[in-house]
Amino acid sequence: MSVELITHPLVQHKISILRDKNTGPKDFRDLVEEISTLMAYEATRNLPLEKIRVETPLGECSAKVISGKKLGLVPILRAGLGMVNGILKLIPAAKVGHLGIYREHDTLKPVEYYAKLPEDLSERHLFILDPMLATGGSSIAAIDYIKKIGGKEISLICLIASRKGIEEITKIHPNIPIFTAAVDEVLNKKGYIVPGLGDAGDRLFGTQ
Ligand code: PRP
Ligand code: URA
Repeated sequence: MSVELITHPLVQHKISILRDKNTGPKDFRDLVEEISTLMAYEATRNLPLEKIRVETPLGECSAKVISGKKLGLVPILRAGLGMVNGILKLIPAAKVGHLGIYREHDTLKPVEYYAKLPEDLSERHLFILDPMLATGGSSIAAIDYIKKIGGKEISLICLIASRKGIEEITKIHPNIPIFTAAVDEVLNKKGYIVPGLGDAGDRLFGTQ
């Protein structure tokens, strides 16, 4: 199982403010964006590099640039949208695909309602983005779908994960690296992470 807990103090500090019920939608959106930027920095730590020659104003030198697969971001709608801009700031060339998935209210089963992904999917390292990994149903549905249409290299970036959600994903997709800033132990009867941060989509978009 490949789960990386991002313990950077800036990330942990911002996650605490995000959890606070008194944090309003504007600050919540800003924090999700900032944390996503910081998490993308960690999640891309092992991207391969290749050497190139660069001419500076004063001479020539060997330098390194990112090589290998191009990158893609796949936010799960709605809440994953809040993570996109923060990561595009670091990786502006990444293509962005969208997957619409919501949890059916009573069964908590994922319902897929929209998909638009880059055509060269198999040539990209894809980062699925969703702030919350609760039962794992939505993320598993996203991974299933992306694999089915040809995606090969996939990672998941979430902000808060439940222990159960991580277990469920790794049972079915053991080779998908998961990056998270927190692992919470409890999932309540309605499938909410406790303490978590509440409903991420509602807090982002003010629909509570
Ligand atoms: C939330 C969240 C995840 C999902 C996590 O979305 O953004 O996508 O629940 O739960 P799971 O791991 O149990 O599947 P929600 O269904 O509330 O949809 P929304 O973002 O459109 O509000
Ligand atoms: N979705 C959320 O937005 N929050 C949770 O705690 C669980 C699912």
